[in-house]
Amino acid sequence: MALKLLKAADYAEMSRQAADIIIKQVKEKPNAVLGLATGSTMLGVYRELAADHRQHGTSYRLVRTVNLDEYVGLGPDHPNSYRHYMNEHLFSKLDIPLHETHVPNGLAADLDEECRRYERLIDEVGGIDLQLLGIGRNGHIGFNEPGTPFSSPTHVVELAESTRKANARFFGSLDDVPRRAITMGIATILRSRRLVLLASGREKAEAMARLLEGVVTPDLPASALHLHPDVTIIADREALSLIPKEKRRVDAP
Ligand code: F6R
Repeated sequence: MALKLLKAADYAEMSRQAADIIIKQVKEKPNAVLGLATGSTMLGVYRELAADHRQHGTSYRLVRTVNLDEYVGLGPDHPNSYRHYMNEHLFSKLDIPLHETHVPNGLAADLDEECRRYERLIDEVGGIDLQLLGIGRNGHIGFNEPGTPFSSPTHVVELAESTRKANARFFGSLDDVPRRAITMGIATILRSRRLVLLASGREKAEAMARLLEGVVTPDLPASALHLHPDVTIIADREALSLIPKEKRRVDAP
């Protein structure tokens, strides 16, 4: 298996390991381009980055960021927009200039043009050095739901019902969860120089078991990672709980 798997005891350890990788990347390349994600999985990582910045002064002054995705119809002021999440949980806690942080514009009048603009933007910043990924219960990455071709660039998606239900916890009701999103495509994600996928908790165990089985299929979007030369997966014990013991290979960080 080409993927490097780091096993963490729990969410806190997974978050620290991921933050260490990002901090190392920024120290090695102060003008790194970081690809970022949202969701519950990332909150611990962002807390760690903020704490490190406060305590050790790691600087993000020259860093640029591009986020994976955004809901269609939600602007920066909406508490559930991903731009809002990023500003609140990470950007406001670092010294990164806000204009160097990028999230797809869910309010764009021409969504297809916005997707093309986002692809151009990623090229213009020189490509993504390190892309952080979570994984959906159905194996999605970004908002690339099962069945998405691996050749897809940034595009508009109809969210799977299971994804809308999973995310309803952040909204008042299921009806309030947007039906569409803009997401980097799988091809966009695979162009990143390095991928780091995080998984925590029992609800990710089925997807992780399928991913680590190694079958590459659009039915499991995350399995596209097997096509990339530099992937690190950091998963906690619960997320790995459905993987047969003999397959739980652990590489040292
Ligand atoms: C978020 C994203 C999604 C999430 C995934 C897991 O930007 O791209 O793919 O990473 O849905 O979400 P959580 O972490 O909330 O379980």
